[in-house]
Amino acid sequence: MIEEPPRTLARAQTSRGDLALRVRASPGGPVHELIVAGIFAMDDVDHSTEDVLAEAALSRCGTPARVLVGGLGLGHTALAVLHDRRVAELEIVELEEPLVAWAHAGLVPTLAAVAADPRVRLRIADIAAVLTEPGPAYDVVLLDVDNGPSFLVHQANAGLYAEAHLRAAIDRLAPGGVLAIWAAQREPELFARLQEIAGAQDSIAELVLPITREGRSFDYAIYLVERSGT
Ligand SMILES: C[S@@+](CC[C@H](N)C(=O)[O-])C[C@H]1O[C@@H](n2cnc3c(N)ncnc32)[C@H](O)[C@@H]1O
Repeated sequence: MIEEPPRTLARAQTSRGDLALRVRASPGGPVHELIVAGIFAMDDVDHSTEDVLAEAALSRCGTPARVLVGGLGLGHTALAVLHDRRVAELEIVELEEPLVAWAHAGLVPTLAAVAADPRVRLRIADIAAVLTEPGPAYDVVLLDVDNGPSFLVHQANAGLYAEAHLRAAIDRLAPGGVLAIWAAQREPELFARLQEIAGAQDSIAELVLPITREGRSFDYAIYLVERSGT
């Protein structure tokens, strides 16, 4: 079978390079692709780990009314958050302005559903800056902006995984709140750093998520900090 090349739905140049949304045909239906900074960032052929990022954090939180998501991507994590009716407000922080415009324009069904939900506020900003600005507490903070500290797409995101920003993210949690961070591989140094930073009463966990893509096996991972309820 001859595979059709992906079709470009939208494309823009940003200060970080080429940004594009593409779609390709597959036996299971259309597959959407996101290119960020000229690099293939993701497709939605299997978005199970993006969903688990939201589900694992929400299931550990008693009252997840206010949620912050760093990184819109193709909108799967955000949509999984919105499936939880306990969520009253979802703030999504995305670095790339054109991607937010394409979400409002409804270019991809998941992004259209996210942008249309009245509980959503889509903000164009660097999540690292948002975490350190004064503001209200969140019940859940979900970070999926890069592959993880050992395999960055944007070198500028290195600071997000360093102590000051991790501490800021934990400090922004309400009592009983949950921070979850997605990574494309296990990140033992990140796990150790979270254990050092979190309070004695907080719980830290690593979820290892084995994935098979195009015949190859990968261990994706999610790092969780549950802030104590008192
Ligand atoms: C892998 S995608 C997120 C995938 C998303 N979880 C999903 O389910 O589709 C990463 C996203 O984070 C954005 N991003 C990268 N660095 C960022 C930053 N520092 N602040 C906010 N967004 C960022 C990228 O532009 C991209 O949209």
